[in-house]
Amino acid sequence: MKLATIVGARPEFVKLEPVSRALRPRHEEIIIHTGQHYDYRMSAQFFDELAIPAPNYNLEVGSGTHGVQTARILEAIEPVLMKEHPDWVIVFGDTNSTLASALAAAKLQIPIAHIEAGLRSFNWSMPEEINRVVTDHLSQRLFCPTKTAQRHLSREGITQGVELVGDVTYDILLHLQPRLAAQVQALLPALDVAAHAYFLVTIHRPLNTDDPVAMRNIAHALNRLEMPVVFPIHPRTRKCLQGYDITWGKHVRFIEPIGYIAMLALEQVAYRVLTDSGGIQKEAFLLGVPCVTLREETEWTETVESGWNVLVGSRWQAIIEAVQLPKPEPPQHNPYGAGNAATRIVQSLEFPGRTR
Ligand code: UD1
Repeated sequence: MKLATIVGARPEFVKLEPVSRALRPRHEEIIIHTGQHYDYRMSAQFFDELAIPAPNYNLEVGSGTHGVQTARILEAIEPVLMKEHPDWVIVFGDTNSTLASALAAAKLQIPIAHIEAGLRSFNWSMPEEINRVVTDHLSQRLFCPTKTAQRHLSREGITQGVELVGDVTYDILLHLQPRLAAQVQALLPALDVAAHAYFLVTIHRPLNTDDPVAMRNIAHALNRLEMPVVFPIHPRTRKCLQGYDITWGKHVRFIEPIGYIAMLALEQVAYRVLTDSGGIQKEAFLLGVPCVTLREETEWTETVESGWNVLVGSRWQAIIEAVQLPKPEPPQHNPYGAGNAATRIVQSLEFPGRTR
């Protein structure tokens, strides 16, 4: 088979790695990078360190409003899909690249496989919620990471072509785990922090970054924490913060966006992780580090139900209370599968009969 895997933003590169690794020995893969993320640290760094094959196409669409970015991808990807005419288009998650690629493929009647299907926040102010719902309804094969995701699809009337395979980010985490200890040893002295004695913070969601009141509240909480705060800063967040008058405590250390292995290493030995990212909530859970989520809801509800994740929004008192909670009991089971999601996806795509 010929499969086109389409990526554009940081979390998609991470999900691509295990899928590409499972696909390549058996099938032809065309990687299409939309160019949604383009800085070295946001894009090529991931291909380099994870040894993902270089994309066959880079559409170089860059940044823009949601409409502009989605439209540029749609326009640029159509001729590529017409030329390559793959048997499957594979899209990941919920970015503008996901939605635009799925739309282009659907119009060309190329079957779509959606990896990380069925997630819902039920918050329609998030661009990702729009992207994932539409992509799910356009897809012929829907690979769910969790039972909850499968249930959401069923409630929307999607029961055919749906498979519960586990989460591909657990696959890559297991793959990289042997390399984390060396990263920890190299990174912590450079950051001047000790294992289990710092907070790791990431913030990039518009609901926080674009709201000065939310960012001031979060800063107020971070400034009161009694351990160093390591804060790899997304370019969107950096730009937004330049416009806000916020004084940060000396213990808050901003660093440039880091690679994936370094990020996992810093998560693994953090005292607590504070984030508004979806992927990082789940990684913290899988690495056994309590997470405080700077949002009011999450798609990864299992992390909250097990007590390993607390939703606090941008309320500063709630943030401070949540980081003081004791470490919960180890979870009874892993809701994110067996670490073989990518292999199961590739095997499944070899059976056309399962298609919706
Ligand atoms: C996108 C995804 C989000 C994902 C996130 C991971 C959508 C709607 N959102 O959000 O789901 O969690 O990626 O990072 O697709 N920028 C740079 N250099 C880059 C990329 C971005 O400077 O390489 C800056 C630009 O100012 C840009 C802003 O960051 O306008 C936001 O980038 P964008 O791709 O629009 O969305 P993200 O916030 O990264």
